[in-house]
Amino acid sequence: MKLLVTGGAGYVGGAVARGLRDAGHAIVIVDDLRTGHRTTAEGFDLLVADFADADRVGARLASERFDGIIHLAASSLVGESVAKPALYQENNLHKSLALLDLARRHGVARFVFSSSAAVYGEPEHVPIDETHPLRPTNPYGETKLAFERALQAHAAAHGLSAVSLRYFNAAGATRDGRHGEEHEPETHLVPNVLRAAVEGRPVPVFGTDYPTGDGTAVRDYIHIEDLAEAHRLALDRAAAPGRAEAFNLGTGHGYSVEEVIDAARRVTGRPIAILPGPRRPGDPARLVAAAGLATRTLGWTPRTPGLEGILETAWAHLRAVGRA
Ligand code: UFG
Repeated sequence: MKLLVTGGAGYVGGAVARGLRDAGHAIVIVDDLRTGHRTTAEGFDLLVADFADADRVGARLASERFDGIIHLAASSLVGESVAKPALYQENNLHKSLALLDLARRHGVARFVFSSSAAVYGEPEHVPIDETHPLRPTNPYGETKLAFERALQAHAAAHGLSAVSLRYFNAAGATRDGRHGEEHEPETHLVPNVLRAAVEGRPVPVFGTDYPTGDGTAVRDYIHIEDLAEAHRLALDRAAAPGRAEAFNLGTGHGYSVEEVIDAARRVTGRPIAILPGPRRPGDPARLVAAAGLATRTLGWTPRTPGLEGILETAWAHLRAVGRA
């Protein structure tokens, strides 16, 4: 298939673009490179533009026939979304609606959307399945949910076929060592723990009084190449006009912050000290996916074994690029 991948120069997008290319699809990446990296998109047909640019993206959609859009480009920091809700409404919702309109005008039949566990809000039960109430607790989650709903309405009205993929915690690097996580600023736990290992400084632990086994927050870490594979399967699924569905993408296993740091000590062979601190506002105690629906419906099964397997890929990447 011929596919437009928005945000394909980013962390998850880079892995998705590679996975789809390896599966034989023809990829065009659109990325404004504000948070993405030109090097990530090297070797791809790259359009440096805002994904909602009606002239430039529209011209591309008009001149070539695209079978699908994989929409990953977004602002994705929960804390920033609380401080700057308008930015998130603009980037994640209004611009995504503009892209959806371009898809409709140019007859793009399939749409796969990067959604998030943030659509659920504070969990009422764990593991979280897709029937869990949708009550986001921050503007980031609200914009993701609003766009999922827009996809449903467009599917019903215009015959689009849409799949929303609700990622839990994306982590790790591609197994060839070439592509990993490089955000600035970096807020995510896994890269911060590995950076702490390299720099020999303590890693901050946000909250040690959660009602979990060791008092630190529990998350479901999912390898980026497993996420990439889910996008490939979602594209096949997005073949029935008028259907809009959503799937959780996680492993079903939760690991605490302390367990992540312990695993990083084993993987890196370095001591990593911790700096206990207060909870980060808005962080739930436990986010773990029930991902059975994706397994049953898409035929998706995560391949990267366990937390250590994920950390090993991230560490191998840092070594490969000379940062560890
Ligand atoms: N944490 C630390 N120290 C750090 C960084 C993080 O203790 O230096 C903790 C956080 O407080 C949290 C856990 O480690 O308890 C994981 O934090 P991340 O920032 O890595 O990930 P989040 O779970 O906060 O965020 C992820 C995605 C978001 C998505 C969110 C859904 O990165 O895009 O899940 O709630 F919105």
